[in-house]
Amino acid sequence: MSKPVRIGLIGHGFMGRTHSNGYAQAPHFFKTEHTPVLQVVCGRDKEKTQAFADQWGYKHIESDWKEVIKRDDVDAVDICTPNHLHAEIAIAAAEAGKMILCEKPLSMNAAEGEKMVAAVEKAKVPNTVWYNYRRVPAVMLAKQLIDEGRLGKIFHYRAQFLQDWTISADLPQGGAGLWRLDSAVAGSGVTGDLLAHCIDTAVWLNGSITSVTALTETFIKERTHTETGKKQSVTIDDACSFLCRFENGSLGNFESTRYARGHKALYTLEINGENASIRWDLHDLHRLQYFDYKNDSIIRGWRSIHVTDGDQPYMGNWWVPGLQIGYEHTFIHQVADFMKSLDEGKPCSPTFRDSLETQYVVDAVLKSAKDHQWEASK
Ligand SMILES: NC(=O)c1ccc[n+]([C@@H]2O[C@H](COP(=O)([O-])OP(=O)(O)OC[C@H]3O[C@@H](n4cnc5c(N)ncnc54)[C@H](O)[C@@H]3O)[C@@H](O)[C@H]2O)c1
Repeated sequence: MSKPVRIGLIGHGFMGRTHSNGYAQAPHFFKTEHTPVLQVVCGRDKEKTQAFADQWGYKHIESDWKEVIKRDDVDAVDICTPNHLHAEIAIAAAEAGKMILCEKPLSMNAAEGEKMVAAVEKAKVPNTVWYNYRRVPAVMLAKQLIDEGRLGKIFHYRAQFLQDWTISADLPQGGAGLWRLDSAVAGSGVTGDLLAHCIDTAVWLNGSITSVTALTETFIKERTHTETGKKQSVTIDDACSFLCRFENGSLGNFESTRYARGHKALYTLEINGENASIRWDLHDLHRLQYFDYKNDSIIRGWRSIHVTDGDQPYMGNWWVPGLQIGYEHTFIHQVADFMKSLDEGKPCSPTFRDSLETQYVVDAVLKSAKDHQWEASK
C-alpha cells in the first residue's frame, strides 16, 4: 500500500525545479511503498509561486516558510533556498517533527552545521542532503569498483570544478540569481558552492580528509550590490586550490574557479590506485573511464565504459542497454533512494551528519587560505 510523503518545497528556483521533477518522476520508475506528493510550494512572490504550483501540480502555496512548517499536511520539508536560510529552516522543521531534505552545502559553516545535526538527531527525523553527483550511475559504479578493491591501494585523488560565469567586472553581486557572489548569503564562494560537491564525492569514495593546505583568490575586489546599488567589497573566494591528505594515506589535489574561460560547469575526478585508475567527467556523465593494469600488456589502455546496462547502478530502472540518462536523473535517484530509505527504516546518505564532514573540510580550506598554514580537518 502506498504511504504518501507530503512535500513542502521551500524555494522554487533552479533546485526547486530539479527536485519537483524528481518527485514527479521517481514513482514512475522506482517502486517504493513511500511515495512523494507535491503538497505545498513556498515562495515570497505569490504570483510566481502560484504559477510554479500550477506548472508542477503542487496543491497549495505559501509565501512564508514558517507557515509550511506549521502545516499538518506536510510530512517532509525540502529546503531549496540560498544557503543562509538552511540552518534556520532545518532546525525549525526538525523541532516540528518534519523529515528534511536540504540542499547543499548543509550550512554556512561547520558551527551552524553542528546545530543542524543536533536538531535532526534530537528529533530523530529522517534527513538527507542533495549531493546529487553521488547518484550519477557512472559515479556510483566508481564507488562499486573501489569498494570491491579493484583499484588496490589508492595513491591520488584529483578533482576539479570549473566555471567561467563571473569573469565580467560589470556583474553585480547579491539578490536573485547573484546571491552566490554575496558571502552573507552564500557563506563562501567556490569553496562552499562547487568544491563542497567535490569534497562530498571524495570523502564518500576515498574516505576522510585529515589535513589541507589551500590558496584562494578574489579576482574582482568590488562589485555593485543589487540591493544597495553601491559598490561593495567582494568577500567570496572566486577561485580555490587545495592539497590534502586522506586518512588512507593518499594525496588529494582539488581546484575550483569561476574564471576558467570556456568551462561552464566542468566537474571532473580521477583516482589512481595501485592496480587501476578511474576518471569521470560531468560533460560525459554516462561514461566511466577505467584503466586496469592487470590487462594483458598488448591490449592494456583506458577503456570508456558506457554505463547504460541493467546490471549497472540505477540503469535497470531506465530504458534499454545503450540508451543513456542525464543530469536530472540524479535528483530522481535521490528521491527514489530517500523513499526506499523510509521503506527500510534506514538513513539516506548523505545525511546531515555525513555532510557535516564536508563542512569541516570547507572550513579548514578557508582557514588555511587565510593563515597560509596546513590545517587539520576535524
Ligand atoms: N545539488 C546541486 O547540484 C545544486 C545546484 C544548484 C544549487 N544548489 C543549492 O540549492 C540551493 C538553492 O540554489 P538555486 O540555484 O536553486 O537558487 P535560486 O536562486 O535559483 O533559487 C532560490 C530560491 O529560493 C527562494 N527564496 C529566497 N529566500 C527565500 C525565503 N525567505 N523564503 C522562501 N523562498 C526564498 C528564491 O526566491 C528562489 O526561488 C542553494 O543552497 C544552492 O547551493 C545545489
